[in-house]
Amino acid sequence: MKIQRVALAALLLGVSAVAVRADVMAPTTPPDAPKFDAQGTPVFVNRSDIYEYKALPAYNEPEWVKAFETAGKLPPLAERLPKEPLVYKTANEPDGTGVYGDVMRHVIGGRPEGWNFWAGQSYGWGGIDIGLVECLTRTGPLFEVNSSDLQPMPNLAKAWEWSEDGKTLTVHLIEGAKWSDGAPFTTADTEFYYNDVVMDKDVTPLMGASEATYANGVYKNVDDYTFTLTFDTAFPESVLYNFAYGNFCPGPSHILKPQHPKYGGKDYQSFHDAFPSDYMNFPVMGGWVVVEHRPDDVVVLRRNPYYWKVDEAGNQLPYLDEMQYRLSTWGDRDVQAVAGTGDFSNLEQAENYVESLKKAADPASPAKLAFGPRTIGYSLFPNLSGNGWGEPTADQQAIRDLNRNLDFRKAISYGLDRQRLGDSLVKGPFTAIYPGGLYDGTSYYDKASTVYYPFDTASAKAELEAAGLKDSDGNGFVNVAGGGDLNVTLLTQSDYATDKNLAEGVVAMMGDIGVKVTLNALTGKDFDNARDSGKFDWIIIRNGTELITVVQNTANLAPTGPTTSNHHKGNGKGELDLLPYEQDLVDTVNKFIASRDPAERSDLMKHYQNVYTTNLDGIGLTAYPGALIINKRFSNIPAGAPIFMYNWAEDNIIRERVFVAKDKQISAELHPNTLPGAPGDKGGPISAN
Ligand code: GLA
Repeated sequence: MKIQRVALAALLLGVSAVAVRADVMAPTTPPDAPKFDAQGTPVFVNRSDIYEYKALPAYNEPEWVKAFETAGKLPPLAERLPKEPLVYKTANEPDGTGVYGDVMRHVIGGRPEGWNFWAGQSYGWGGIDIGLVECLTRTGPLFEVNSSDLQPMPNLAKAWEWSEDGKTLTVHLIEGAKWSDGAPFTTADTEFYYNDVVMDKDVTPLMGASEATYANGVYKNVDDYTFTLTFDTAFPESVLYNFAYGNFCPGPSHILKPQHPKYGGKDYQSFHDAFPSDYMNFPVMGGWVVVEHRPDDVVVLRRNPYYWKVDEAGNQLPYLDEMQYRLSTWGDRDVQAVAGTGDFSNLEQAENYVESLKKAADPASPAKLAFGPRTIGYSLFPNLSGNGWGEPTADQQAIRDLNRNLDFRKAISYGLDRQRLGDSLVKGPFTAIYPGGLYDGTSYYDKASTVYYPFDTASAKAELEAAGLKDSDGNGFVNVAGGGDLNVTLLTQSDYATDKNLAEGVVAMMGDIGVKVTLNALTGKDFDNARDSGKFDWIIIRNGTELITVVQNTANLAPTGPTTSNHHKGNGKGELDLLPYEQDLVDTVNKFIASRDPAERSDLMKHYQNVYTTNLDGIGLTAYPGALIINKRFSNIPAGAPIFMYNWAEDNIIRERVFVAKDKQISAELHPNTLPGAPGDKGGPISAN
């Protein structure tokens, strides 16, 4: 068995003489990316330099919030705060202690579906969810943490410890923190999340957390503020990263639980639908609460009077009283941010770079634009399930079989002119040839382990032939065995110009080598549903954080469970039919998760990268840097904040700490001097009198 494995591995790596065809160009390492320096370097610190938990002698809040206390509509501030709030340290605040007031005007391309994040509802992205949900740990700000101290930051979990054998993790929650409606935050909330969301097969949370996300840990409550997770393996430290945004961000069990079918709710669909997008004041642990939603117009959030974070002077955070999300398009976010009618954008659609740069270069520009590392990247993923995920028709099944054939995947890679693909988005030093896998410039990347099948039409055609595909009717497109043209459906997200442009480029290039590809361009949730249910032959995706950081969402690096991979999920019975190289990826990722030895982890990732790129698990297209655009009136924006690394910039810049100096504040609040009303109250925010 072992010998067979080795022989097979050798074959897959192309080192066996028989595997190399004379008419095919040999793979190489990728060419060096054009030099592009990130603008602004982070000030590196240890995690404990950023915040701590402690009681302060006195606390402050905005004057207008005090009026709610006087009117008997809110308990005194000291009673709303936890025993030991999270305290941001002044020395780490780029512009020091802030002042209250003003608003951050976001523009987004998504739309809120409803507020049941835990049953899979999207809030519309662009940072709405990041501002509403808080998670056990936090990773966004790690971009500025010293590598010697690289571990997730505490958040709702203020501390944790491992048992001596590493099989039990004890987690201590912040004590006495409250939801935005005043209900206590306790292990009742973490227990509900774990046992009735993650472990309930009929509930899929928005970002798909499953047992695999938490190393199959078994949950147990110890007391109101302590729980344990018990594992079969020792020290699966990656779960601490999966405690962060996207995953272990518990919902309000006092609101959610009564709707869950296990506790009297009607059924799973009703649970999913119980908090539609016109349900206002949904209780959160985040800094702001949704108080208004006008469809296709705006979502307005007001400050959470129970927020559990303060600055060193005792000022309850956030400093900003309101958050707005204009419901528009992602492209418009860039346009409005540089024009100054919006306040923030992750400049990530390369088509907008030249125009945005030109405008931002004007000293009178209202916005600052700073490029970060090259962490925006796209890949084409062939659907690798051969056993029924997405319920393919016979024709689609034939394509699945081809997808599972390395010759076919190589044909795709040889057929792609990645230089031209990148240049078609933007000319200049931005885009780099991206073979797939871990990104050049990130900490686990190793060039020598990276295999690149370069653009070469003849090689592409030879590989198609090797895969049994010939243009038997002479119409320019290869045929399926004994039938018509092979016709591959490529799923793409059409809310972003970049995704669509790349997909169109791929269609044209595949046409040049004789592979007919038809686009299925979907928007928003329709795209998500097609992706998650496996209704595609090929898909183009903007890659996730795991290919940048490795340590965040590590389990998603391979089909380590039936739902962790975007392009190979289990069939209806949850069964995965892994190819030998995929099994190797899974084993490597699992070993990485289980290892605490930096040298071993680095070697494992070299192996991962080699197996991934040799076998074209994902076929890389292009990678480029993104830029953070932010209005100049904001203070406390950390230097060198990347738009995407462990998380998106909406988390990285620590919005609850961002403020606007009094003389720079604008009068743009839609609901000044109001606070969130009761959960579900359609009346929106309330005034003190
Ligand atoms: C969308 C945007 C990103 C970022 C995230 C945050 O995906 O394209 O730039 O704002 O939302 O969730």
